[in-house]
Amino acid sequence: MDKIVIYGGKKLNGEVKISGAKNSALPILFATLLTDDKCKIKNVPILADIRTTVDFLNFIGKKTVRKGNVVNCDESSKLNHIAPYDLVRKMRASVLVMGPLLARLGKVDVSLPGGCSIGARPIDIHLDAFKKMGATIELKEGYIKIFSKGRLSGADIEFRFASVGATENVLLASVLAKGTTRIINAAKEPEIQDLADVLVKMGAKISGAGTRIITIEGVDKLHGFEHDVIPDRIEAATYMIAALMTKGEIKLTKVNPKHLELVIEKLIEAGADIKIKDDTLTVKWKKEIKPINIKTEVYPGFPTDIQAQWMALMALAKGNSIIEETVFENRFLHVCELQRLGANLKIEGRQVSIHGVKELSGAPVMVSDLRAGAALVLAGLCAKGKTEISRIYHLDRGYEALEKKFRKLGANIKRIK
Ligand code: EPZ
Repeated sequence: MDKIVIYGGKKLNGEVKISGAKNSALPILFATLLTDDKCKIKNVPILADIRTTVDFLNFIGKKTVRKGNVVNCDESSKLNHIAPYDLVRKMRASVLVMGPLLARLGKVDVSLPGGCSIGARPIDIHLDAFKKMGATIELKEGYIKIFSKGRLSGADIEFRFASVGATENVLLASVLAKGTTRIINAAKEPEIQDLADVLVKMGAKISGAGTRIITIEGVDKLHGFEHDVIPDRIEAATYMIAALMTKGEIKLTKVNPKHLELVIEKLIEAGADIKIKDDTLTVKWKKEIKPINIKTEVYPGFPTDIQAQWMALMALAKGNSIIEETVFENRFLHVCELQRLGANLKIEGRQVSIHGVKELSGAPVMVSDLRAGAALVLAGLCAKGKTEISRIYHLDRGYEALEKKFRKLGANIKRIK
């Protein structure tokens, strides 16, 4: 298994281009199942999850090829309605195949996705929504079998929680349903808005994307599209935090600062000097890292996908801080790994209290999930001595060319087979 080895202590300086957003590219790729026409998606990050999704689309019957950062889907004819375990278990986002196949075929069998390290991640909100749209659901031999007699019908659907995936799945199902669907308490993440932009390009009738109430008028047919995926705000935040932790100065290009307003505000409070110009954003170390409490919430709150990276930053702050995780029930797996690097942390229920230390020291650590891995890389970049990070396949799911980008910024980081 590959490992990443870092010799910490280098100030990071220079420019990094932010890749397209993984969590926008994935639902957009599944949206191609809604039309038999050709589709072209640009600014797609080169990641394991993208490869899994391309394999998935080809399995379902939508001929799809990725070349560099461009994905082309060919005209399709017959689609298969079964999503097998060996594809679904690799990537939870595979549940997004439900909406489009229900809309197109009126049936879909998806293997139960199974849990993941950051939580049980049920899909009850997705399934309740499909039932409200007229589908019946059966659990059989590890498969969720969803069936709708004739077209799905539009419905008023109120979410108990503003789930990102459920909002995307209902958008994907309702655009071809009969009548009007309203999603109440919808997720507002930028990736939702990007997906809605694509669906409207395909001929869908959607209003309110990016607000808590989204209204969709079903249409009979959708056509192909061409789209540039929005920049990855989570990747961007990771490099911004790297600048502060290593006392350097990093200029991010091809970033959308509007998607990072609260993170920018918190980083400035923590002592960063941040300059914004169009789609570039420069983060500069000033004199110290101030302890700033955060609580993760659905967008536009502080992103749960940046919680682990923020913890790595606060581990080096001058003082004590508290992080509260309200979105996932078990997203503190990075705590014990950061403690191995010398961070002074204490889990108290859904909170972690952090006592800033002067310095971290390198050690062998293990990645538990994608964003925990990012936190360990950040800590390794400033820890004294050698940090060896294993199970980095989690990182390859969400960060394009991670060690290349950090090496270009001056880090002593390499991947060993
Ligand atoms: C998306 O996951 C992202 N993944 C996650 O990013 C991100 O952490 C999450 O949104 C929150 O922002 C993709 O976009 C591919 P949710 P998703 O449905 O859709 C509970 C990463 O690092 N819930 O908003 O699965 C759930 O258990 C990944 O890129 C239900 O209880 O997130 C969780 O506690 C990690 N029932 C919370 O809601 C449901 O039916 C948030 O889930 C659905 C969700």
